[in-house]
Amino acid sequence: MTTLNEILEHDAAIPTWFHCGGRADLLARPRSVGELRDLLLAFASEPIRILGDGANLLVADEGVDGLVISLEKLDRAEFDTPTRHSALVRAEAGAKLPQLITEAVRRGLAGLETLAGIPATIGGAVVMNAGGAFGQVSDVVAEVEALTRAGAEVRIPRAEIHFGYRHSGLNHLIITAATFALRPVPAAGQPALREKLKEVMAYKKGSQPMAAHSAGCCFKNPAAAPGSDTRVSAGRLIDEAGCKGLRIGGAEVSAHHANFIVAHPGCTATDVIRVMEEVERHVRDRLGVRLEREVVVWRRGESP
Ligand code: EPU
Repeated sequence: MTTLNEILEHDAAIPTWFHCGGRADLLARPRSVGELRDLLLAFASEPIRILGDGANLLVADEGVDGLVISLEKLDRAEFDTPTRHSALVRAEAGAKLPQLITEAVRRGLAGLETLAGIPATIGGAVVMNAGGAFGQVSDVVAEVEALTRAGAEVRIPRAEIHFGYRHSGLNHLIITAATFALRPVPAAGQPALREKLKEVMAYKKGSQPMAAHSAGCCFKNPAAAPGSDTRVSAGRLIDEAGCKGLRIGGAEVSAHHANFIVAHPGCTATDVIRVMEEVERHVRDRLGVRLEREVVVWRRGESP
């Protein structure tokens, strides 16, 4: 048995796609679900935050208290032998979504390619029901495995998960793995599957600042009307409100896609937060729309 001290790192950097922001007082990278459970029990009375790929995360400059847990070492993916109509793939929470998509397409399995270009771990993608114009994670989830904060293992079938737009209702759990139900594509259809993957990537490259440091879309797309399932692009609204190019310190609203805030060299998390607040104010004052944040902000002292 390992002691938890072996995997605890003090004053640790928290890697995020913004490439700025504060550090963790304590960070651990458990190597098994058993170690993860031990951490949950040992830190039962402390704030615990789960780090995915850091692709949708901003950490305030003063850093965070309690324990940050990265599941990057739980990264296995297992493909079951496909039947004619279905193929199951089980991926651990720390596995990277882009790699899983590439591998699924290589094996001629359809269903994940619509999520191409979304940087995420499996756990992060499931908990926020990541997606875009071509599909969302909930389209292919068959089952989720998780631990409760008390360390109990639970398995939740798709029918019991209340997925919505960028929402899973699973935030109270620590996701440890997800099983996806994919569709085997006959050999003759596989070039079209590979083409679809390229098409989704090309759309993103053409419409988004992929090379810049950012956390993708900062705000959720608001409903077109209260209760409506139709959504309007937050990027288009921010653009219409005249915010493209708005810059504070090193943080700037991308001229390429207005829902991206890009972090230039020297940018701080405070710069990004101030730009988000300015964008919220302009869109509210000029268009009467209240934007909701998609990017998660971690702050010291706030309950996770
Ligand atoms: N538009 C503008 N100005 C802008 C940005 C967009 O006029 O600055 C217009 C576009 O020209 C287009 C429309 O708004 O006519 C929609 O734009 P886009 O296709 O880029 O889609 P989106 O709704 O802005 C969503 C997701 C993205 C995802 C894309 C493509 C959200 C919040 N955003 O953006 O997801 O990549 O579809 O699939 O749901 C993310 O969640 O991090 C993210 C980037």
